[in-house]
Amino acid sequence: MKAVTWHGKRDVRIDEVPDPVIEEPTDAIIRVTSTAICGSDLHLYEVLGPFLDEGDILGHEPMGIVEEVGSDVTGLAPGDRVVIPFNVACGHCAMCGDGLQSQCETTQVHEHGTGAALLGYTRLYGQVAGGQAEYLRVPQAQYGPIKVPEGPADDRFLFLSDVLPTAWQAVEYAAIPDGGSVAVFGLGPIGQMAVRIARHRGARLVLGVDLVPERLEMARRHGAVTVDLNDFDDIAGRLRDLTQGRGPHSVIDAVGMEAHGAGLGQLAHNLTGLLPDRLAEPLMEHAGVDRLGALLAAIETVRRGGTVSISGVYGGARDPLPMLQMFDKQLTLRMGQANVKRWIPDLLPLVSDPADPLDVIDLATHHLPLDEAPEAYAMFQEKRDGAVKVVLRP
Ligand SMILES: NC(=O)c1ccc[n+]([C@@H]2O[C@H](COP(=O)([O-])OP(=O)(O)OC[C@H]3O[C@@H](n4cnc5c(N)ncnc54)[C@H](O)[C@@H]3O)[C@@H](O)[C@H]2O)c1
Ligand SMILES: [Zn+2]
Ligand SMILES: [Zn+2]
Repeated sequence: MKAVTWHGKRDVRIDEVPDPVIEEPTDAIIRVTSTAICGSDLHLYEVLGPFLDEGDILGHEPMGIVEEVGSDVTGLAPGDRVVIPFNVACGHCAMCGDGLQSQCETTQVHEHGTGAALLGYTRLYGQVAGGQAEYLRVPQAQYGPIKVPEGPADDRFLFLSDVLPTAWQAVEYAAIPDGGSVAVFGLGPIGQMAVRIARHRGARLVLGVDLVPERLEMARRHGAVTVDLNDFDDIAGRLRDLTQGRGPHSVIDAVGMEAHGAGLGQLAHNLTGLLPDRLAEPLMEHAGVDRLGALLAAIETVRRGGTVSISGVYGGARDPLPMLQMFDKQLTLRMGQANVKRWIPDLLPLVSDPADPLDVIDLATHHLPLDEAPEAYAMFQEKRDGAVKVVLRP
């Protein structure tokens, strides 16, 4: 089959690889019909190279049709239409029982001390073959796959794999008081959906911050008051001005480790890019290598006593953070990979509603054949051609 594979920094290719087969009784095989590129994939494309091997299959936002199921998979049958969560979770351990599927004890990667395995996401997360391919082996298929009805277009359901539950969790963890205010830093797919979900769940004022015109425009279209990073040196000051001088009750960081605005982290990123893997890997695992611009702005922006909710991915082990300010402002901080299945009961009714209350149909800007993945990654990274979300169709 054809698959999108990693070959180095900014080098993904389409390779011919063996078709996946059932390896465990809890596996299923799906034929992929749609598979999206995520901001998290851009971290693999740019800085997380030391944790990948050449030929690793990327992708963690797939949906498709079940082809075959292992003997322990009873709830699925060939022909079912399913969305696959990016967390590989078992559904029966203590963590899954507590709704913390991204910490699943059955699939935790003990070698690296990390949480649940993830599809297509480095050795740190189990080096599971990803879903940007014609076929996918789905581990823990007795629990993971989300069955969706026939009929509506893939885009109505595809974002249940990651974007929607991540944005839902970001809003949940942001603890916006009823009728309160929230600022969303980063208006990529996660930020876009966080804006809509915050509005849907009753936030009175949703501020959106980015520096890409069409992303700001999309957020405005869905009810955000936007602030262009390029227009203000003091972004926190601007956001305070819009909130009676106090700052928003909550701030969501939907940017992560590759924030615009260089600093120390940029140097570290360039440095690790030049080192051989055996030197870069421990450096990345044990030092502070993130570009913290957005997170620092989030901490500065939030109201005293407010909450910062981080869904952007960070990877440095020793990042310097402004503890004085965080302590002084009495902040609450929540973060983590999304627990996909936990939020499906909230989301499935919304995406299944013909009125499309979250306007999920207005997110993907590009639908391209799988073959065009190398160009699609470059376009999405460089934010060219109005790309906000790219869906590949094998
Ligand atoms: N927690 C999870 O489970 C989870 C799931 C999916 C994605 N993520 C992470 O969420 C983040 C966003 O993902 P995405 O798919 O929306 O990606 P994206 O890269 O398209 O979005 C990031 C956006 O942030 C903007 N930005 C950059 N620097 C900024 C700054 N200093 N201030 C404000 N905006 C800035 C960029 O212009 C871009 O629009 C990534 O870090 C991704 O890894 C986390
Ligand atoms: Zn993703
Ligand atoms: Zn589990």
